Amino acid sequence: NNSPEDIETDECMNTYSHIYSPDLLMHGCDTVIASRNLEKLTEAAKKLSSTTGRRCLGIAIDVRQPETISAAMDETLKTFGRVDILINNAAGNFLCPATSLSFNAFKTVMEIDTMGTFNTSKVIYDKWFKDHGGSIVNISATLGYRGQALQVHAGSAKAANDAMTRHLAVEWGPSGVRVNTVAPGPISGTEGYRRLGGSHAESAGVFRSIPLQRAGNKTEIAHAVLFLASRAASYVTGAILVADGGAWLTSAND
Ligand code: HXC
Repeated sequence: NNSPEDIETDECMNTYSHIYSPDLLMHGCDTVIASRNLEKLTEAAKKLSSTTGRRCLGIAIDVRQPETISAAMDETLKTFGRVDILINNAAGNFLCPATSLSFNAFKTVMEIDTMGTFNTSKVIYDKWFKDHGGSIVNISATLGYRGQALQVHAGSAKAANDAMTRHLAVEWGPSGVRVNTVAPGPISGTEGYRRLGGSHAESAGVFRSIPLQRAGNKTEIAHAVLFLASRAASYVTGAILVADGGAWLTSAND
């Protein structure tokens, strides 16, 4: 087991051994974290800034409402003066057979995952990246590669996002903007793991069929995202980096 240290909960890690140069993002980075729940954001921002010694600002937005993204971007520029990296991580998911999925349920997941990624990318491009360049990393999933059961909503949305990654990489490359994607497999200690039956799969021995024979951890996904976001990937754009231990190659479709 060659996996990096991790923490099971949503706490920040007290110890971390850098596998990249600690100044990969120049001198670390200040962050803005955005979601619908200001209470959770404020708590997370506090933890992040006390652990990293950097500023972290939580701003409430709904990625389905472009005007909230626009206001958040204005506040970000007022506070920090620039934006270098955008991580599109907002998603909604649950297990549901297509026949039980309401029209509104399918639409809701498309709106959060696909429209949300477009809305956020476009606002930040128009307000900053267009003139200064930047790096976008989208978080996808491998669900659609084999048409996984109970996941037509999320698989369809993420497939659209993978195409969006390539389209925006082509259109925005000349402005110095790189657009890439990480597609994780089952990652322990995450909302996705809890919602999509991760612990059940683990105790049923399902992960033995994964080539690397285990679930991934959050730090491993952070490393993949950091690679694509940083100057380590300065000539990489339009790429989908699958970080799933080889899971989709061998997983059963049930
Ligand atoms: C069937 C469901 C459902 C469920 C909601 N709906 N949950 N249908 N099974 N479990 C239906 C509702 O009945 C409703 O349809 C429609 O979806 C919208 O639901 P709302 O609750 O009104 O919407 P909203 O508050 O916007 O919530 C969106 C959500 C919710 C996606 C449904 O779960 C959410 O906000 N999730 C955010 C966090 C999240 O999911 N994180 C995990 C991402 S995991 P009707 O017809 O009744 O109006 C992930 C990993 C994937 O993405 C890859 C792993 C390998």
